[in-house]
Amino acid sequence: MCGIVGYVGKKTAQDVLVGGLRRLEYRGYDSAGIATLDDNNEAHIARSVGKIAELANVLDGAPQTGHLGIGHTRWATHGGVTETNAHPHHVKNIYMVHNGIIENYKELKAELSDKGYEFASDTDTEVLAALIDSNYTDGVTLKDAVAKALKRVRGTYGIAVFSPKEPGTLIVARLGSPLIIGLGQGETIIASDASALLGYTREAIYLNDGELAVCNKDGAEVFTLGLKHLDSKPETIEGDLAQIQKGGYDYFLLKEIMEQATTLHNTLSGRIDPKAGKMHLGGPNLTEKEMRDIRHVVIVGCGTAYYAGLLASYYMEQLVPDLTTEVVIASEYRYRSFHLPKNSVALIVSQSGETADTLACLREIKKRGVKTLGIVNVVGSTIAREVDGGTYVHAGPEISVASTKAFTAQVVAMLMFAGMLSEYHGGDPKLVAEFTRELSILPEEIEKNLETHRATMEALAKKYSKYDHALYLGRDTAFPISLEGALKLKEISYIHSEGYASGELKHGPIALVDDRFFEVFNILDNWLFDKSCGGLHEVRARGGKTIVLTDSKADIEADDIVRIESPIKHLAPILLNTLQQLFAYYIAVDRGNDVDQPRNLAKSVTVE
Ligand code: G6P
Repeated sequence: MCGIVGYVGKKTAQDVLVGGLRRLEYRGYDSAGIATLDDNNEAHIARSVGKIAELANVLDGAPQTGHLGIGHTRWATHGGVTETNAHPHHVKNIYMVHNGIIENYKELKAELSDKGYEFASDTDTEVLAALIDSNYTDGVTLKDAVAKALKRVRGTYGIAVFSPKEPGTLIVARLGSPLIIGLGQGETIIASDASALLGYTREAIYLNDGELAVCNKDGAEVFTLGLKHLDSKPETIEGDLAQIQKGGYDYFLLKEIMEQATTLHNTLSGRIDPKAGKMHLGGPNLTEKEMRDIRHVVIVGCGTAYYAGLLASYYMEQLVPDLTTEVVIASEYRYRSFHLPKNSVALIVSQSGETADTLACLREIKKRGVKTLGIVNVVGSTIAREVDGGTYVHAGPEISVASTKAFTAQVVAMLMFAGMLSEYHGGDPKLVAEFTRELSILPEEIEKNLETHRATMEALAKKYSKYDHALYLGRDTAFPISLEGALKLKEISYIHSEGYASGELKHGPIALVDDRFFEVFNILDNWLFDKSCGGLHEVRARGGKTIVLTDSKADIEADDIVRIESPIKHLAPILLNTLQQLFAYYIAVDRGNDVDQPRNLAKSVTVE
């Protein structure tokens, strides 16, 4: 996602900033820019869409000579991928870069427009810059103006700000978006990610949420937003560059599994109201009448995106009483003579937004005059551009080929669409409220669950990594995650694995049970619990090696049982799925595979 760098010292700021931005490239971004202050106190901005190399070209034509500046790589959230929307943003005396999302930017924008501010971009960042400027009146320091403005902000931010009125000073602040202050010899370098600081210094202050710092070439002073001075101790940055780029994890896959709580916060941000028990997605672009008229939802995807759609369809049926849902594999659907009933809506699910089959379906569906909504991660991707509306899932760049955090975000985004639809279709508000409450604690529950069971899943993986075959079984909402669990395992471990509805066991797969197989049962503590255990007994009776993943406290007999403990019920499959992700990951590691780039697979499948 977005990255921030900042510099104040003796070196030419442009060089440090561009070098730092290159270090942040792995995170994924769509545009970049820097702003510097020269020795005559004049600010200069350069921004460009595309790679850092493009920005470097722009700077080659117009080099910046100052010794203080800020830089940014942008991964679009508010507003398209354009130079105008790229950071740094400039409003009167304020130059600023920002990571995160300002949730109340619309109301702040209206207020600031009334005061005469004009906005060039579609970003929430420019609104925050204007808000700071509106507080930066005569006699007020930049520090005080930033603190005052941030008190009005709802959402998340990591920011770096400077003003020509106070040369030599950089202000940084954070809430929910990392910021690190590197302390060098006569220079201070700030960044959203320690990898940008390596090579300059290993001594750094990690800013905490709700803190602000005033930086100059000699160091930094840290304050609360209430401007109480804090005694922040510098820490040593550990690890080498390669490791830090993976957030300290050995593989991107593990990083992406483990960061799901954080990315899910972004998916949910501003879209649920647990107090009111409601969900709201801004992007679908449908009128109230259109929302009320929907009778049929077709969900289209490939691979993990298809399974995310399948799980979401179960939730949709529970939440929206008069709705028919259909989930289709894009590579099949695009060539079928399909007919969509009147009042259909299609959800086009894709992490990359570029998958060729999914894109082809989108076009086929549009030809039939049906509204299409994207459930997409990559901002500005082809699918995102071609759909009639939709929502970004905000899972951040997913680098490892096997999809993990995007699955979670896709399910949750579609669930929020269902929760919203429910209101227009006479759905049970209590049920919507229950789901909303669960969504509000889901990030923390995922985090807790992953931490609690990480070592267990690693140990289990070692025990089962030498098997040749695996069956994943579940029913109801545990069925889609069994398909996804089997997919994850085969993708990265190369163990042959199949997912099945456990009710289908007797119709074929039970014939396979022998000592080359192990069976994973996802068993939910719900009304089908006894039936789910039925399949488990049948496999055990035939000598099968069984692993049970469950949220039930009841007695269950199996070779290995992993129990999650959580107040979450409806969304328990999402929690169980994160354990399957860890399991597949550790098996792949144990087998010595290339975890992030499994053989024969690509992250974005742009050919048929
Ligand atoms: C590829 C990836 C999978 C992904 C699928 C759909 O197969 O390896 O991880 O689930 O494509 O990709 P999409 O970008 O459309 O979600």
